[in-house]
Amino acid sequence: MAESARPLDINQYDPMGGRLFSPSLQAIPMPGIRRMINTAAKMDNVLHLSIGQPDFPTPRHIIDAHIQALEAGQTGYTLDAGLPELLSALRDYYSARYERELTEDNFIVTTGATEAMYLALSATAAPGRQFILTDPTFVLYAPLIRMNGGEVKVIPTRAEHGHQIDPQEVIDALSMRTFAIVLNSPSNPTGTVYPRETMEAIVKEAAYRGIYVFSDEVYDHLLLDDMEYPSVIRCTSDLDHIMAISSFSKTFSMAGLRIGWIISSQGAIKKLRRYHMFTTTVANTPAQWAGVAALRGDRSCVDEMVAEYRRRRDRVVHLVSETPHLSGYWPQGAFYIFPSLPPRTDGSLLALRLLEETGVCVIPGDAFGDACSNAIRISYSNSMERIEEAFERMIPWMARQRF
Ligand SMILES: Cc1ncc(COP(=O)(O)O)c(C=O)c1O
Repeated sequence: MAESARPLDINQYDPMGGRLFSPSLQAIPMPGIRRMINTAAKMDNVLHLSIGQPDFPTPRHIIDAHIQALEAGQTGYTLDAGLPELLSALRDYYSARYERELTEDNFIVTTGATEAMYLALSATAAPGRQFILTDPTFVLYAPLIRMNGGEVKVIPTRAEHGHQIDPQEVIDALSMRTFAIVLNSPSNPTGTVYPRETMEAIVKEAAYRGIYVFSDEVYDHLLLDDMEYPSVIRCTSDLDHIMAISSFSKTFSMAGLRIGWIISSQGAIKKLRRYHMFTTTVANTPAQWAGVAALRGDRSCVDEMVAEYRRRRDRVVHLVSETPHLSGYWPQGAFYIFPSLPPRTDGSLLALRLLEETGVCVIPGDAFGDACSNAIRISYSNSMERIEEAFERMIPWMARQRF
């Protein structure tokens, strides 16, 4: 994402010869993911290890609730914070999960975690405010911060350390200018889950200094080892410096229904509600009813999906270890692994050649930051059969490469 780090030039004309668009759009890089997917779309017989959404069908009872809502005429706007039934389902669900009393006023329902992150970051980023991110990191955060004049400071992570962060390194990076730390665990693109000690150390220090922690928890249920999820919500007694963001997209395989939320202090939620009115007004109403069914209904469907992701994770870690020149680690969540190639390898070029010469599509590391251009993201949101076939093509091809 080298181009995103350039200072904004407000006098730059767009290539079409006009000054139509806001200069802030220069903060949006050419998405590395789209580049690969668009190339793959022109080819036959491509095996995708590039997919960023679940490959399972949405559970039946959720689909039924969605259809019933449409048939019952639930097609108008909801209240600005969200459908009251969904807000109370979220309150009950999270209060029980994290053993603390939350109220409906601690939540705002959004159009996916994407809008949630958009609200959180663009409502707070401003010139002079610095945001700390890891590198690699999910593609949304840095552009949203920069578009609003905020500054990004990155903490690189490495495959050798399983892409874990050292909380002391984060604490040492804090300065007078730091406004917030953005965390994402389990992470896209690395699948890394930060242990509770890491979360606690960061959240405590941030609260002490009045620094916000934005925690993207969309993969909070896709935990592939036996552990309790270390949400930021568990790490603090008040929510004054926390925004936890999640959605139904990954947990319930309903990414296209576009329902997410933010959990924060009542004061922060009040401000975000006003902003939400000026972005999407409210989230999709029938999809919010589908969300009520997801939270209130039988959740064994989630356990089944997680069990299958676990089976694939175990196999993919093994296959990565069998692949020449790739260095893996043990990812504990989501459905990604982010192995590295030998130092200074251009992962972008390699991914493109891999696609063109074998038909296997992975995402190059530079789609997720500047510190990891010698890595690739492998997603195992695909059937075991396809995963096996992809590695059958990839392993001999990699064996022929010289670095
Ligand atoms: C880390 C992370 N955050 C947020 C999102 C967006 O999720 P949603 O579909 O809820 O907008 C994604 C989607 O890939 C993601 O990987």
